[in-house]
Amino acid sequence: MKRLLLAATAALAISGVAAQDFPGSKPVTFVVPFAAGGPTDKVARDLAEAMRKPLGGNIIVENVAGAGGTLGGTRVAKANPDGHTLLLWHIGISTSPALYRNLQFKPLEDFEYLGLINEVPMTLLGRPNLPANNYAELIKWINDNKGKVNLAHAGLGAASHLCGLLFQSQLKADMTTVPYKGTGPAMTDLIGGQVDIMCDQTTNTTPQIAAGKVKAYAVTSLQRLNTPELRNLPTLDESGLKGFNVTIWHGLYAPKGTPKPVLDKLNAALKEALKDPEFIKRQAALGTMVVTDARTNPAEHKKFVEAEINKWGQVIKAAGQYAD
Ligand code: MLT
Repeated sequence: MKRLLLAATAALAISGVAAQDFPGSKPVTFVVPFAAGGPTDKVARDLAEAMRKPLGGNIIVENVAGAGGTLGGTRVAKANPDGHTLLLWHIGISTSPALYRNLQFKPLEDFEYLGLINEVPMTLLGRPNLPANNYAELIKWINDNKGKVNLAHAGLGAASHLCGLLFQSQLKADMTTVPYKGTGPAMTDLIGGQVDIMCDQTTNTTPQIAAGKVKAYAVTSLQRLNTPELRNLPTLDESGLKGFNVTIWHGLYAPKGTPKPVLDKLNAALKEALKDPEFIKRQAALGTMVVTDARTNPAEHKKFVEAEINKWGQVIKAAGQYAD
């Protein structure tokens, strides 16, 4: 018993020293569960830049893509809980328990919550040579091409998948869905004309719309957006899909068991980064909204994800969607 107590005391002392020195010279890795060049990757790289100074250490981004983000989720759930491996994921963390029967982690039990980051609306896009120049023409084209329309997405449970599912179900249209490891590579194929349409986060679509590389038909938020590239796009709600509203969010997570002083340091650096005017400006230019300070509190973050798990669990169950 005495030996056990001594070991526990020593472990506590070591973690206390380690926490004081954290992050030290070893970089912190943000695991992004999608391919490089997509919207989650973009948010992670911008946040890494904004968090380096307040954290006092280097932050790198690693893409662990596949299975709608769940491979990256598993990787971090099973990582050493020392604060050096973090997960930056979106709404998919809350849809995965209902979608994946063989999920290798439990979102509410296997992670420490570090705070929400932002909210991101999406846009409905078409390939550049699609013969439809506005939303009404797109609907006509979809109806005229029943059984032939391809819709790209980033895997079951990805934001692009949820948005595409909702779009199909409200239109009562059946499309062939084409999964990618992220909407970064999916965007390349959309621009190249290999797939027809895609829903994607404004973070990824704004530069492509500005460059005229894709056709943009609508935004998925209830209100129109206010950036120069997006302000003329109608909402899907005003275009006839009443109540259509998909705005996704990103959050930051550490493996369960990460020492509290390390979590506190990470949370403080996150809060600081989200107040950085440069970060806020960059996000706003891409149509995304950085969350308020209260939403970066770990308890608030966890409460929010729990509510999202319940909400999406019901939607997904009703739609009969799942993967083994
Ligand atoms: C998604 O559809 O979930 C995202 O766009 C994934 C990504 O960041 O590539």
